[in-house]
Amino acid sequence: FKIPEINNELMKNYSPNSEERAKLQTALNELKSQFPIEIPLLINGKEIRNKKTSDQKNPSDHKNIVAKYHEAEPSHIEDAIKGALETKSIWENYSIKDRCSVFLKAADLLSGKYRYKLMAATMLGQGKNVWQAEIDAAAELIDFWRFNAKFACEIYQEQPIKNSAGVWNRIEYRPLEGFVYAISPFNFTAIGGNLPGAPALMGNVVLWKPSPFAVLSNWIVLQILREAGLPDGVIQFIPGPAEEITNQILKSPSFAALHYTGSTFVFKKLFKEIGNNIDIYKSYPRIVGETGGKNFHIIHNSADLNSAVRQTIRGAFEYQGQKCSACSRAYIPESLWERFCLELRKEHSRIKVGSVEDFENFMGPVIHAASFAKIKGYIDHASEDSECEIIASGECDDSKGYFIPPTIIVTKNPKSKFMVEEIFGPVLTIYKYKDDDFEKTLDLISETCAYALTGALFASDRAAIVLGEHKLRNAAGNFYVNDKSTGAVVGQQPFGGSRGSGTNDKAGSHTALYRFVSMRTIKENF
Ligand code: SER
Repeated sequence: FKIPEINNELMKNYSPNSEERAKLQTALNELKSQFPIEIPLLINGKEIRNKKTSDQKNPSDHKNIVAKYHEAEPSHIEDAIKGALETKSIWENYSIKDRCSVFLKAADLLSGKYRYKLMAATMLGQGKNVWQAEIDAAAELIDFWRFNAKFACEIYQEQPIKNSAGVWNRIEYRPLEGFVYAISPFNFTAIGGNLPGAPALMGNVVLWKPSPFAVLSNWIVLQILREAGLPDGVIQFIPGPAEEITNQILKSPSFAALHYTGSTFVFKKLFKEIGNNIDIYKSYPRIVGETGGKNFHIIHNSADLNSAVRQTIRGAFEYQGQKCSACSRAYIPESLWERFCLELRKEHSRIKVGSVEDFENFMGPVIHAASFAKIKGYIDHASEDSECEIIASGECDDSKGYFIPPTIIVTKNPKSKFMVEEIFGPVLTIYKYKDDDFEKTLDLISETCAYALTGALFASDRAAIVLGEHKLRNAAGNFYVNDKSTGAVVGQQPFGGSRGSGTNDKAGSHTALYRFVSMRTIKENF
């Protein structure tokens, strides 16, 4: 059986006076009137309220508490593992058709009934403006659920191409033996829905630890899946102290896979820990991770300059530079520099920063106080660094929300920390290169970076495009020609990178789904 043709979810229009804007405004008002929303753990379908709670704040207005969530303790994790393993035998015997129907229905519920509520939770809880919330909490998550269902069906249909006489060869994709542990980040609600969702679709049971900065939206995601028919115990929702929870989970012999998006630092730590525990596991755990980035734009002197400027501004500053795919280093040829700089400043001066509830703001807050301090630290260093010039900035202001202005640094040193370290905020560093050094600059881009997530080349000269595509082969898992480094679309540009950026298993693809099944080959003689 096959899932009919699937199209990407269409974006809504939130222009003033539109019906969508009015609906979203109502959802924002309704959600705000319920703050702080109490969020329990969910284990075996039971809501559990523990004594220990933490707050999720509105980063546009940090006195405003969005949610109070209950935190998992060791006994809850024990129950979650036990319950998940008990549910496993039920869930893995659901046919793929029945598992798909849960996710396809969830996608429909999100496309209609829950769209504005989930967007409102993403805007108020994670500081996304309306457009960023739409592409994430609505479009991308709907696409993940629908396309994964289609890919899963295709995987289950694969069979060997050859039988010899009197023999029937078959292959079967089994869920992993044990449970999957999903750790999701704050920056995409869609990733929150995909990290537990993709392994569950493939018949696995999952323990899901959401980011403390996205608990509200992630909780709503789970409610949608439950309404769509996800049985109790398939996804156990266990927010709480990351290290304790993780240490305990990684000590379970039934730990079968990690599905992770977050920092490179934490992922490496988990990788080591899994290695240390290897003798206690039943199988070698699958480790699937998407981590940091230091994504580049390189502009060739044949590029359409205005388009390159606009895309660079969008790639660097949308969602305050907090996408793992955000552009944070740019390489501009000397011959274009003056015009590029002029246009860049013009675009920069148009950017409005402020609360995401004002739909005019292109940029909202960064996620929390520690992030604000870290990013501000980089900007302060740049202002004191003799190799750097800050050509556009503004004032960092955390009195109400965590607001950092879009900041553009020009450096003389292509290996400086501003060009190689992930800042994860609205800071773009530029290096001017000599036009004749285009090829050397391509090498420099690849060699100076420990990451390889996304990157973009702007050029109209085909020879430059060919050279860039070839030389930057290992520098980005998602490579764009004449487009910004962000905004991969599920079903169109499978997403992920290698080096320090992850295991490159490509979210929203067959490849990622294969990681959550184990193949059995059956040979039957007649
Ligand atoms: N998929 C997102 C993008 O491409 C990042 O997670 O921007």
